[in-house]
Amino acid sequence: MKKDILSILDLNSEELTGVLALADKLKGERKNGIFPEYLYKKSVGLIFEKASTRTRISFETGIFELGGHPLFLNPNDMQLGRGETISDTAKVLSRYLSAIMMRSYSHRTVEELALHSTIPVINGLSDEEHPCQILADIMTMRENFGNNLEDLTIAWIGDGNNVCDSLMLSSALTGYRVNVASPPAYRPKEKYIELAEKAGAYVKFFDNPRDAVSGADVIYTDTWISMGRENEKEARVNAFKGYRVDESLLAGCDSDSIVFHCLPAHRGEEISDEVIDGPMSRVWDQAENRLHAQKALLAKLLGDDISQSVS
Ligand code: CP
Ligand code: NVA
Repeated sequence: MKKDILSILDLNSEELTGVLALADKLKGERKNGIFPEYLYKKSVGLIFEKASTRTRISFETGIFELGGHPLFLNPNDMQLGRGETISDTAKVLSRYLSAIMMRSYSHRTVEELALHSTIPVINGLSDEEHPCQILADIMTMRENFGNNLEDLTIAWIGDGNNVCDSLMLSSALTGYRVNVASPPAYRPKEKYIELAEKAGAYVKFFDNPRDAVSGADVIYTDTWISMGRENEKEARVNAFKGYRVDESLLAGCDSDSIVFHCLPAHRGEEISDEVIDGPMSRVWDQAENRLHAQKALLAKLLGDDISQSVS
């Protein structure tokens, strides 16, 4: 049966550990010029309703490195842009491709695509979740702190957005605690707070970012203005004053704490230059690990035969 990854909770803990172990292996092999072809002769469609640097390029590169063929698909160049439905598109693409990754405005669009596809669908960021980002983040946490993630505390500072939703849910898989500090109007959606609770996640909410970062191992932030929210810019910039990850906020943190940002960063807004370019920052490792983690995910979803491996 095909498996879709629309939410980070579409993986269980065991599957997550399997993906991350393979990601570590692929990362090591790549350094030595070894490229196992888990996706030999397989084509993967990449549909982007919104802009992307990391997701697009890491998926395109990763699929190529696995021996497959990536197709970048702009909905406006497809009949989707002229009114063909998502469900009809799903049925047709399922006849050509081995999997589809989609970045959509509405989470319902990726759900609809998955419902009508007979091949796996991966969410490459919707308004509700960003599971591929969280895979890379957990890989980066393991590189810094080892595999016992249940000892960690992650502080999310800023907008309770799509990345925050997936981070909260991931606590149920890893056992780490997630402290969320957001202005009250920008806390995660109730639906995700409830989902996280139901799944057994350890999430606490704070008004003051200083309380949230106290004792945290990872301090994580993201833009205050996610794609699609550009017309709320003024209200958001005002509401998020005091939620910038800068040297003053980090003054009380342990020296071995690290800083995450999923990128793209809006330097001077949610994060200062000193922090993103400073010794605590792991943002470039996170970005790199998108490649390895997604390769591993695709290999697990599609790579039933690696006899074509060139290793
Ligand atoms: N973090 C992330 O998904 O970046 P892009 O928007 O560049 O893909
Ligand atoms: N929260 C951001 C993440 C970008 C990768 C957005 O949705 O635009």
